[in-house]
Amino acid sequence: MSPTAIPGVERILFTEEQIEARIREVAADISRDYAGKTVKLVGVLKGSVFFLTALARHIEVPLKIDFLAISSFSDRSGSPGVVRIAKDLDEGIEGEDVLLVEDIVDTGFTLRYLLQTLASRAPNSLAVCTFLDRHSRRIVQSPVKYRCFEIPDRFVVGFGLDHNQLYRNLGCVAVMKPEKQ
Ligand code: PRP
Repeated sequence: MSPTAIPGVERILFTEEQIEARIREVAADISRDYAGKTVKLVGVLKGSVFFLTALARHIEVPLKIDFLAISSFSDRSGSPGVVRIAKDLDEGIEGEDVLLVEDIVDTGFTLRYLLQTLASRAPNSLAVCTFLDRHSRRIVQSPVKYRCFEIPDRFVVGFGLDHNQLYRNLGCVAVMKPEKQ
C-alpha cells in the first residue's frame, strides 16, 4: 500500500529501508545482550505484531513468542491510565528472560501496568523493546531498554500503528496531517 494514496498523510517519517536498517541494529544489540540465553518476546496486540516479527527474524539467539492484549480506558473521574489485560499470555514466564515488545510508548501507563504484572510472575529478567518512543508525551516514567526511533508529538501510522484500525500494513511510518489526529 502506498502511503501517498492515503488521504490525510502529510509525509513519510521513516522509510521501509530506514526501518529495516534500524531493526537490524536493535536485533544485533539484543542478540549480544542475550547471548547464551533463550529470550521470550512478549508482544502487545495488536500494534506490535509487525515490529515483533521483523525484529525476531534478525535476532540470533533462540527465542520464543507469546502475545497479550490489553484494554485501556479512563476511570470514573476521567483520569487516563486504567489498563486491564484482555487476553493473557498462553504460557507462564517464571524463570524466563522476557523482552516486552511494544509498537509505541506514549504516556507510559500501559508499560507501567504490564511491567508490574509480568514482574509479579517471577521472570528471570524483564526488559522493554519499543519500535517508537514518543517521549514528549510521557507521564509515567518506565524503563525502555531498546528503542528503534524517538518520534515527535505527532500522530503516526504504519508498520503496525493504525488510524481507526487502518494503515497498520504500511511498510513505512507516516505522519498524519493535524486535522486527522
Ligand atoms: C498502543 C501501544 C501501547 C499503548 C501505549 O496501543 O501498543 O500498548 O498504546 O500507550 P501509553 O504509553 O499512553 O500507555 P493501542 O492502544 O494503540 O492499541 P493497538 O496496539 O491495538 O493499536
